Amino acid sequence: MSSERVVSGMRPTGAMHLGHYHGALKNWVKMQAEQECLFFVADWHALTTHYDDPSIIETSTWDMLIDWLAAGIDPSKATLFIQSQVPEHAELHLLLSMATPLGWLERVPTYKDQQEKLADRDLATYGFLGYPLLQAADVLIYRAGHVPVGEDQVPHIEMMRELARRFNHLYGKEKGFEEKALEAVKKLGGKQSKLYGELRIAYQEQGKQEALEQGKAMIESAQSLSSVDRERLSGYLEGSRKRILVEPQARLTEASKLPGLDGQKMSKSYGNAIALREDKDSIIKKVRTMPTDPARVRRTDPGEPEKCPVWQLHKVYSDSDTKEWVQKGCRSAGIGCLECKQPVIDGILKEQEPMRERAQKYVDDPSLVRAIVADGCAKARALAQETMREVRDAMGLNYR
Ligand code: TRP
Ligand code: SF4
Repeated sequence: MSSERVVSGMRPTGAMHLGHYHGALKNWVKMQAEQECLFFVADWHALTTHYDDPSIIETSTWDMLIDWLAAGIDPSKATLFIQSQVPEHAELHLLLSMATPLGWLERVPTYKDQQEKLADRDLATYGFLGYPLLQAADVLIYRAGHVPVGEDQVPHIEMMRELARRFNHLYGKEKGFEEKALEAVKKLGGKQSKLYGELRIAYQEQGKQEALEQGKAMIESAQSLSSVDRERLSGYLEGSRKRILVEPQARLTEASKLPGLDGQKMSKSYGNAIALREDKDSIIKKVRTMPTDPARVRRTDPGEPEKCPVWQLHKVYSDSDTKEWVQKGCRSAGIGCLECKQPVIDGILKEQEPMRERAQKYVDDPSLVRAIVADGCAKARALAQETMREVRDAMGLNYR
């Protein structure tokens, strides 16, 4: 298990669909086995765009949590919580906001994009502008190493890194830090100490990213050091400041290869989605009525899979024999479209069976989900409070 902590969140948009599963969720399920993971429902984020109609957020939150569990997120492996139940996120957001240049927020591409896309809403608000800063607080408060996100979110992660660096620079001036760091360097031992010094210069003076990575690996493997010394060495490697906040890295989630029923991107608002726990009959009906290659008007007309959204589903759900059967049968008009759709229906139903099973006990007894979340919130809060103590300390807000 890697020592890097993973943090990611999703807005509560209600029931999840297969596009979410084949994009983010499947990736989360994989990560929870490899790294320490914290996954949360970003309910405050939902408010940044839906402040005028918050009524659906609560139901959406519980539905989404059941979907996560159904998809295989395992509460004994990953910590699941709700953002607003860990109010420390808001405190860090506020404190970060003091030193965040407005230009950094205005320059984030999603700021203008979303305003244009959601033109029916008034998003000229303080909360919406600060959205990426809240997201930064979500991650920095756990000193996470990795953030699995889609491509559109990468600029947000870039900004988090800049924020962490700026924060450490402004508030990480510890008296005697350099001396203490040099003491810790000595503890690495002759050869290693020398190498550390060279890597530090290679990174700081020549901007060599590999040197930073190598230095980090070296610190991590220096088993004899205390965690305090290790933190010092990390901070000193990157600059001459104490490392209070950690710069996270984006872990790009591959986009889902599963289009919607009409071949467009799957989205609830396009009406082309299949929900994660959709009723069997409804799935069968949706696939049976989905459009095919428009050239196949009659059963005897040959078709072209590349022009057919059903083929995109075969690519996800069918084995190579079936795919060959589709290619040949379609182009020679040897098979009918309903016949062709059957393996896709079977594939989706088979994929959903364990999900429906896992979800059932939570649907039957919602108190189980409440308990998982209460436990997750407590765990997340303890971690968040630890960071906040240091943050307050560094900013002179501890009043002891
Ligand atoms: N902004 C993300 C989205 O819209 C959700 C989110 C909020 C998030 N906070 C986060 C993702 C922190 C990763 C890490 O999809
Ligand atoms: Fe699409 Fe299959 Fe019909 Fe060909 S046979 S048009 S791939 S549904």
